[in-house]
Amino acid sequence: MNSTWWKEAAVYEIYPASFKDSNGDGIGDLKGVISKLDYLKELGIDVLWICPIYQSPGEDNGYDISDYYAINSEFGTMEDFDNLLKEAHARGLKIMMDLVLNHTSDQHPWFIESRSSKDNPKRSYYIWREGVNGMYPNNWESYFSGSVWEHDGKTDEYFMHLYSKHQPDLNWRNDEVVHGLYQMIRWWLEKGVDGFRFDAIAHIVKAKGLPNANNPQHLPVVQAYQLFSNLEKVHLMLRKLNEEVLMDYDIMTVGETSGLGPEQALEYVGDKRHELNMVFQFEHMTLDSASNGTGKWEMRSWTLLELKKIMSRWQTTLHNKGWNANYLGNHDQPRPVSRFGNDQEYRVQSAKMLATWMLTLEGTPYIYQGEEIGMCNVSYDSISDYRDVETLNFYEHANLQGRPGDQTMAAIRAKSRDNARTPMQWDDSAQAGFTTGEPWIKVNKNYEEVNVASAVQDPDSIYHHYRKLLALRKKNKVFVYGEYKLLLPLDPELYVYTRTLNDERLLIILNFFDGTPVFQWSDELKNASRELLIANYELPAEEDKNMFMLRPYEARVYKLT
Ligand code: GLC
Ligand code: CA
Repeated sequence: MNSTWWKEAAVYEIYPASFKDSNGDGIGDLKGVISKLDYLKELGIDVLWICPIYQSPGEDNGYDISDYYAINSEFGTMEDFDNLLKEAHARGLKIMMDLVLNHTSDQHPWFIESRSSKDNPKRSYYIWREGVNGMYPNNWESYFSGSVWEHDGKTDEYFMHLYSKHQPDLNWRNDEVVHGLYQMIRWWLEKGVDGFRFDAIAHIVKAKGLPNANNPQHLPVVQAYQLFSNLEKVHLMLRKLNEEVLMDYDIMTVGETSGLGPEQALEYVGDKRHELNMVFQFEHMTLDSASNGTGKWEMRSWTLLELKKIMSRWQTTLHNKGWNANYLGNHDQPRPVSRFGNDQEYRVQSAKMLATWMLTLEGTPYIYQGEEIGMCNVSYDSISDYRDVETLNFYEHANLQGRPGDQTMAAIRAKSRDNARTPMQWDDSAQAGFTTGEPWIKVNKNYEEVNVASAVQDPDSIYHHYRKLLALRKKNKVFVYGEYKLLLPLDPELYVYTRTLNDERLLIILNFFDGTPVFQWSDELKNASRELLIANYELPAEEDKNMFMLRPYEARVYKLT
């Protein structure tokens, strides 16, 4: 197993608009991030992934970039960015940029030119097609509801957007586009950034000829995922990006690649592929949805057996061949404690259990802002409190399709990306200490109980549990590199596994629900001598040698020798 800094690192994702506001305009900013670097260092973080901070009209909160070389003035200036980089590096923290290469904003100068006429030299920087019998060029459905095609009156053609209509897709079959992007990436690397999270990277190449997707029910638009995801040419593009730019720098890369399993992921992250260091997979994120893609709004319940199966496949398939990126939440997902834990009676215990899980898997762990204090989903009363373009588009389409309003709101409360985007809860003062002004999105009502200041003070808090786990991971290489083995695969309540590196072994026992199942020590485990490294309950002074009953959401990590 090759050891590398980015395998040993722990990453913390910052959604700048919601992290910390320094000037009272209600929007988080780079100065705000700088003011919290000591907090993150103290927690035990190594790398900060900063969601897009480039100039942007903000239709998709920065994932619609209008100038890759400029900082969004809402977040600050290039000088602020340079300061952030300097201050982070001074503390031994690295900065990973979020880079959107699949599309730009419709306000990017490339697109403004492209849309101006059919014979503009930049026309083919984007994907333009004529309508077919007055209809869309094909039947692909956008991630954000409706068709991927938007009609443009000026030239009477359609352009493609997999996301919102303000995010036209770049044409990666045009070398000029690719080279323009290389240049820009190199520019950031020369500044000294330490890595990239490549947004929506699986989709940069679309199937040749843009064929219709299978459509047995003759719907106007259908989920066409296979026709624009993980195609062979994406791999070619990533290898070229490495050869021409990335390999000159010691950086880390992670790609957002939905719709693949671990075998296919090895095509991106296999040691010899020279494409990406790791990818964010989505199999565990779709467990509570009826299907992939826009199906996220169709909810279903998940079981631990499915979850264990998925995660175990990723752990074992990538071992010694590639590297995992482990996460439960991010700026696109509901809060993990609300989704996989219990954000009521057992908020603290279940958040600690989930943290124990994420930080004892093989791979690089990603912690999303607020996860370390157990922030929860928000339940806004009215649609007018929501800000996210995906949520608002879904609401509109659901209404047009006659879906009952209470069902729509229930889906939104469970799955809206705004669950993750409410302001970071720093203390129990007004607006949770996030801003002295009016925040761009409302604070979660539970901030008086759930906030950083009280978590830091309480030695039993979720925050301190994270801090201890991160410290353990830093000290014991078995946490990082140990081989994973699932025990009790058919137990519906307990998730138990070992991690082994040479003569070191960890045993992780997690109770995933609020029941009280019994764990039986096997002969082999019983005879090993064991040391408890961390747990989320006090252990009784004495325990039966053969078994013990777990308490709700109990988590224990033993070191066996
Ligand atoms: C990724 C981002 C998401 C964004 C989308 C379009 O999925 O994580 O926030 O809306 O790409 O850029
Ligand atoms: Ca601000």
